[in-house]
Parts: sequence; C-alpha cells; structure tokens
Amino acid sequence: MVTVRVPAKVNVQLGVGGVRPDGYHDLANVFFAVALGDQVTATPGEGVTLSCDGPDADAVPLDDSNLAARAARLLAAHHGLADPGVHLHIDKAIPVAGGMAGGSADGAAALLACDALWGLDTPQPVLLELAAELGSDVPFALLGGVALGRGRGELLEPLPAAGTFHWVFAVADGGLSTPAVFRECDRLREESGLGSSLADVPTPDADPALLAALAEGDPVALAAALANDLQAAAVSLRPALADTLRAGTEAGALAALVSGSGPTCAFLAKDADAAAHVAAALRASGTCRTAHATHGPVPGARVVSAPRP
Ligand code: C5P
Repeated sequence: MVTVRVPAKVNVQLGVGGVRPDGYHDLANVFFAVALGDQVTATPGEGVTLSCDGPDADAVPLDDSNLAARAARLLAAHHGLADPGVHLHIDKAIPVAGGMAGGSADGAAALLACDALWGLDTPQPVLLELAAELGSDVPFALLGGVALGRGRGELLEPLPAAGTFHWVFAVADGGLSTPAVFRECDRLREESGLGSSLADVPTPDADPALLAALAEGDPVALAAALANDLQAAAVSLRPALADTLRAGTEAGALAALVSGSGPTCAFLAKDADAAAHVAAALRASGTCRTAHATHGPVPGARVVSAPRP
C-alpha cells in the first residue's frame, strides 16, 4: 500500500492572455501550494478502480473520467504495462470543481502512488511530462511550493518564497466549470470591445511586485499584488461570490480574491490567529458553505508513511 499526500493550489496571480488557435489561453500563472490537501492510497487490485471519502465525495466521478484513473492508465501505457492493477482510494478535502485544482491534485498523486506501487521509478522530468498530458494544473501539484506557470500553465519555473503565508478558503455550494469561466472571460472581453484573441490581448507577465512580496515573505505586499483575470468572469457567472469576498474583507482579511476559476474564494491573513478569526466570521456569515484556515507554501505530492488517521 502506498499513500501520497498532495496539496491544493491558489493562483496568487492569474494573468490570462488571448485565446489561442487550440482553444487554450496563454497564462502568467503564479501557483501557490497550500496545506489543504487530498490523500490518495494505492493498493494492488484488478484493473483500475476508484473509491472516495470526504464531505464532497458524492460529487467525485469514480469512472475513467477521474484524473486519478486517467493518470494510472497513462503511466501504465508509458511503461508498456498491458494489464495494470490498482485500487485508488481518494481521501478528499479539496473542494470539488472549486478552482483549487483538486482533480489535478488527485491525478498527480495517482501518478506518484502507482509509480511507487508498481516499482517503476519513473524520473521526475518524465512524470512532469505525463502530468502535463493529463491537464494544465497537474504538473504544479507534483512540484508544489510556489511556481510560475507559462504556456497553458504547464511550463513551470519554481519561484523563491520566504516564510509562511496564512490563508482562508471559503467553499461555495456547487462548483464552476473551468472551460465555462474561460469562455465567460472571453465573452466579457468581447463585450467591452477589447476583443479576446491573441492579437487583442497583450501576453501576460508575472508582476515583479508580487514576486518580490513572495521572496520577502511579506503578506501585506502580497495582498496588494494579488490578481486574478478570471475573477470578473467567475463573479459574472456566480454574482453571490461578491458577498463572500466582502464578508472576508470586512472580517479583517488583508485581501480577497477568487481562487483560480472559482467558486472557492481565497483570503490572505496577516497571521494564523487572524486567519482563524476570518474563517470563523465567514462560516457565520451565511455567504459560503464552510471556510478553512490553512497555510503555505507546502511541498508537492509526496509519499507519506501512513495514511491520515
Ligand atoms: O488543461 P485542462 O484540461 O485542465 O483545462 C481545462 C479547460 O480550461 C480547457 O479545456 C480550456 O477550456 C480551459 N483552459 C484554457 N486555458 C488554459 C487552461 C485551461 O482555456 N491555459
């Protein structure tokens, strides 16, 4: 049996460029891994089968559409294993379809867990390539820490970060579809007259002030630099998110933003006590289903000796 722990992510900067001919958007995507995470346990089995526990388990598909199952099959195919056998159990804490790359995290964890269970010893660069085939956010879940993602998000460059930042995540009822949020971003750009193609939108770049704030471990400076180009689209599709963002700011968060494509909202706090206070206020506000205080950056997917008790 092999258990892998894997972090969720928040995008501290999500700069979205024009829509490319392949339908994807070029990004300047600063990923930040947080301690809120899933665990995936691989045990020998017949074929590739899945099970899932956790508050959102009912919303997790247990068929071959799940990135964990696709990861197991992709790794087996890469090594020419004709008849892969594994049961993957997902202990799910990351909100489902929440903009925190929970499905991508489970895909990354499954790659690592199957690699260890089957004794394949796949080199890290190959795992990262397989991860990029599975989805734009999967390579970062392997890497963790803080990283700049270029291209559609899969071309990663680790970034220096000092100290620990304290976060709160407000979980919404129901998810948002990532493709739908990107389409809404394009629609809003068209509606404003700016256009949404590569020719219309400047190629986004990482904000030097944001990179300095991360490197210095300065939460006040990071709060001032947080930016998500998908936020307007997520709020357009789910206007109630504006109330959630306001509730966290009123409770004393340094800053609030939508996490990735949403609908989870992220709040930066000045320390652990402030984060606990903001989380309690959000839970009491009636503007979200629940709220979790956590911290980061933390490492990417890694094998742990024992599953969560
Ligand atoms: O790569 P992944 O399958 O996770 O992406 C899901 C969807 O999100 C894509 O099909 C696309 O609609 C959208 N997307 C995008 N530009 C990116 C990443 C994702 O338009 N850079």
